Amino acid sequence: LTSERYGVQRLPFSHVSDKDLAFFEHTVPGRVITDPDMLKPFNVDWLKMVRGCSKVLLKPRISGEVSEILRYCNERNLAVTPQGGNTGLVGGSVPVFDEIILSTALMNQVISFNGVSGILVCQAGCILETLNQYVEEQEFIMPLDLGAKGSCHIGGNVATNAGGIRLLRYGSLRGTVLGLEAVLANGRVLNCLTSLRKDNTGYDLKQLFIGSEGTLGVITAVSILCPRKPKAANVAFLGCGSFAHVLETFKVCKGMLGEILSAYEFLDDECMKLVQKHLKLNNPLTGSPFYVLIETSGSNAGHDEEKLNNFLEQVISSGLVIAGTLATDETKIKALWALRERITEALTHDGYVYKYDISLPVEKLYDLVCDTRARLGKSAKNVVGYGHLGDGNLHLNITADSYQQTLLNAIEPFVYEWTAKYQGSISAEHGLGFKKKQHIYYSKPDEAVELMQKVKAMLDPRGILNPYKTLPTQGSH
Ligand code: FAD
Ligand code: MLT
Ligand code: ZN
Repeated sequence: LTSERYGVQRLPFSHVSDKDLAFFEHTVPGRVITDPDMLKPFNVDWLKMVRGCSKVLLKPRISGEVSEILRYCNERNLAVTPQGGNTGLVGGSVPVFDEIILSTALMNQVISFNGVSGILVCQAGCILETLNQYVEEQEFIMPLDLGAKGSCHIGGNVATNAGGIRLLRYGSLRGTVLGLEAVLANGRVLNCLTSLRKDNTGYDLKQLFIGSEGTLGVITAVSILCPRKPKAANVAFLGCGSFAHVLETFKVCKGMLGEILSAYEFLDDECMKLVQKHLKLNNPLTGSPFYVLIETSGSNAGHDEEKLNNFLEQVISSGLVIAGTLATDETKIKALWALRERITEALTHDGYVYKYDISLPVEKLYDLVCDTRARLGKSAKNVVGYGHLGDGNLHLNITADSYQQTLLNAIEPFVYEWTAKYQGSISAEHGLGFKKKQHIYYSKPDEAVELMQKVKAMLDPRGILNPYKTLPTQGSH
């Protein structure tokens, strides 16, 4: 099905034989899954749009086992798809054909945590939320947070260079990941698992693996810098009359909340209607065209509240904000966050979802939603915009009752050309995976793609690691 729909040909990899299965059983005894029913959820992505037909799932526990598996697969020319929590949104985490699935689900041990420096070293299969709970017990937090925290693995987060809702405050994983261990396609273990804040000895190889979506190596462990748990957290949920006011509010917010600002997220009223309709969430405000979620995190509750109140007074009295509510207790904070974090889930209940994840100059962010809405008219069910406004990241999503090629033709390349016109990125944080790899040229020059292909060929000469993903099919441009 996949090959027909996407026009992709299976590359000449070997097929898994009984002899191969015997080798795997010997290497990871009792952790070789071949039962078709058990394999089903690993063959389909979170959005249920990309489906592979792998017949084998392997669950190593340690990097030595990953090394054995890859060395063997490389020799035998068997393709492998690394998989973490399988929450990726671009079809990168599932096989396209019969690639072997290498899951990090059992690689879930914390290796060490330093309560002075806040440096956590752990295996790649630790679930993000579990790690956050673990470090919270020691008064720290993970430097990243996202809606999929309950399922995604830290290795998957690093492999996708996931952004999420704390990036505004703590920066990207390119800064907070201090080191990592990766197993290369030929089975060699690359130990760059240092925990140093500063290390300028040669090229920073770990950066190659951050955001490489399983195409250059299997990440088996990471060392990550965790910030202190803020003593006080406040959330304000505000309504704005226009997107211009959302932007102006952001400007005032940066000026008045400065160092305690930890999130500035937005959603439009169409998103609000979807979470109300499909998830029965309650809108605490009267209807507004736009909503903003502001989070502050600081060390002095009284000081933060005072700052937040001054800010609110300013934006309300100047008419930038037309409605608002504040939360300091955890239950209400969670309820407000759900309105933003559960949009992804609400969209899946609305029908087939055409998903875009765009970086743009912040002042242009919502124009793309308006132009797309105008272009598609009644042929789309809903055209919605939400995202990490503070990071210039828009999530443009379009729903329809079912997949329609004509609708897709109306959306693409329009959305990509629009983005390229303003020097934006066609993938801000989700990656290219299987679904977007052909569109890389909208955001990267030919020379950059060519160099990426050379890096891939050097690290994985037989192309066994996550084939058909991230880089465009050679000769397709
Ligand atoms: P998977 O989905 O299993 O894999 C993702 C990719 O990484 C695949 O290409 C896979 O081959 C590769 N990979 C996985 N593990 C490894 C490894 N150990 N070594 C090498 N390669 C590996 N993303 C954001 O950036 N910001 C968000 O705010 C955000 N919110 C989300 C909210 C929801 C509800 C959902 C469903 C997804 C969201 N995502 C978000 C998408 C995001 O990419 C993933 O949630 C997460 O980073 C992927 O982790 P995972 O363990 O599920 O990886
Ligand atoms: C988000 O910010 O909610 C995630 O990136 C998921 C999505 O884009 O739907
Ligand atoms: Zn996002």
